Amino acid sequence: MSTPQEYIDQNKDKFLNELFELLRIPSISTDSSKKDAIRNAADFLVGQLEALDFERVELFETPGNPIVYGEHCPYDDQPTVLVYGHYDVQPSDPDDLWDTPPFEPTIKDGSIYARGASDDKGQSFTHVKAIESFVKSGTPIPVNVKFILEGEEEIGSPNLVPFLENHKDLLACDMVLISDTAMFGKDQPSITYGLRGLAYMEMEVVGPNRDLHSGVYGGAVENPLNVLCEMIAKMKDEDGVIQIPGFYDRVIPLTQADREASAALPFDEEAYKNSLDIKEVHGEKGYTTLERASARPTLDVNGIWGGYQKEGAKTVLPSKAGAKVSMRLVPDQDPKEIARLFQEYVESIAPDTVKVTANEHHGGFPSVTDLDFYGLKAGAKAFEEIYDKEVLFSREGGSIPIVADFKRVLGVESILMGFGLTSDAIHSPNEKFSVKDFHRGIKTSARFFELLPDFKE
Ligand code: BES
Ligand code: ZN
Repeated sequence: MSTPQEYIDQNKDKFLNELFELLRIPSISTDSSKKDAIRNAADFLVGQLEALDFERVELFETPGNPIVYGEHCPYDDQPTVLVYGHYDVQPSDPDDLWDTPPFEPTIKDGSIYARGASDDKGQSFTHVKAIESFVKSGTPIPVNVKFILEGEEEIGSPNLVPFLENHKDLLACDMVLISDTAMFGKDQPSITYGLRGLAYMEMEVVGPNRDLHSGVYGGAVENPLNVLCEMIAKMKDEDGVIQIPGFYDRVIPLTQADREASAALPFDEEAYKNSLDIKEVHGEKGYTTLERASARPTLDVNGIWGGYQKEGAKTVLPSKAGAKVSMRLVPDQDPKEIARLFQEYVESIAPDTVKVTANEHHGGFPSVTDLDFYGLKAGAKAFEEIYDKEVLFSREGGSIPIVADFKRVLGVESILMGFGLTSDAIHSPNEKFSVKDFHRGIKTSARFFELLPDFKE
């Protein structure tokens, strides 16, 4: 009989092969033609949990994609950890920019290249394999565990939120464990204690009833594409301050302590610029790059359309134009309120020459984890033992909206124990996840479960 840690070392290749099986499934949640793949990924995970001798494993149907659930809760006197992850992935396009096929996982220079390798199949799978290391080494799992793996994170978890509200007893727990974030740097373990929220809007500007000749009508009829650009230009001033009235009303200002903690992180701005091939960073005046990218709200155009996009020059004044705009939010901003303020602002700056609409896509609340929570301390200790390096605590700019819902509905903190790297190219071509971090992630997770009873308060 081996220990869980020995089992993990002995089964490196088996774990990788199993992860590859999951990565081969193109479970893209934004693509309605991928429903079979979604189901295959969910079924694969059900099979994985069933192999762990859990008392209960279930696939819950929802109006959207199914939720995978499993639990093993033998103790009355030990904490219950709810492991959350998502098996859906972002689209792989633009496919021609991938060096290897997105759904044919390939190991190159010590990393697994595939869509979902880091976000979030590879990262969330670490916990499944950590639990397996107890079961298969004949070691009792030291705490109660529940798994909830959803297939709609990348589209804003529309069905998980009602599921939480309707299954509070089933999901009752002392903490949530999530690996869907990045470490502060290579070989630098870190726990993320803040995530931004999101309000995502789509604007449309409609002008004349048809596309027009830009010579015949240009100068006399409003051009929706020009209007759109002018309106977008009015959203921020030259200091990067968002101009929507009321936008900052609920923003909790950074304290001196927040700013000192952020400044103490080993951030290398030159390396950051070099890694992105940019001459200068950019953002809200008076804040550092780290603050801008994690602890301050933003407004960004994510896509814009209208007019002639193909080869050559077509002289046309488009009848319609549109843009997708995301706003990342910080505590205590409310996505619904921000969406409403955005709509009101758009209406107030729209000229009478066009019709303008602004509709809301998915959104989510920001979140901050209590740094004194005992689960966070157990997580930090586990990380330190496996990575042999002191853990950093940092905030990140991405969003996992369900974290705020876990707090609101279940009343629990989430431990964001990311094993990915900012350079993993999540959502981009050539997404990757380090093989070493996949392995260390499994070890860290197993160690966390071992240590948790000692930290219990
Ligand atoms: N794993 C990311 C979130 C993330 C990335 C957190 C990097 C911290 C650092 C997650 O899968 C994601 O992409 N979330 C979306 C949420 C949205 C669709 C509601 C995001 O942040 O765009
Ligand atoms: Zn993602």
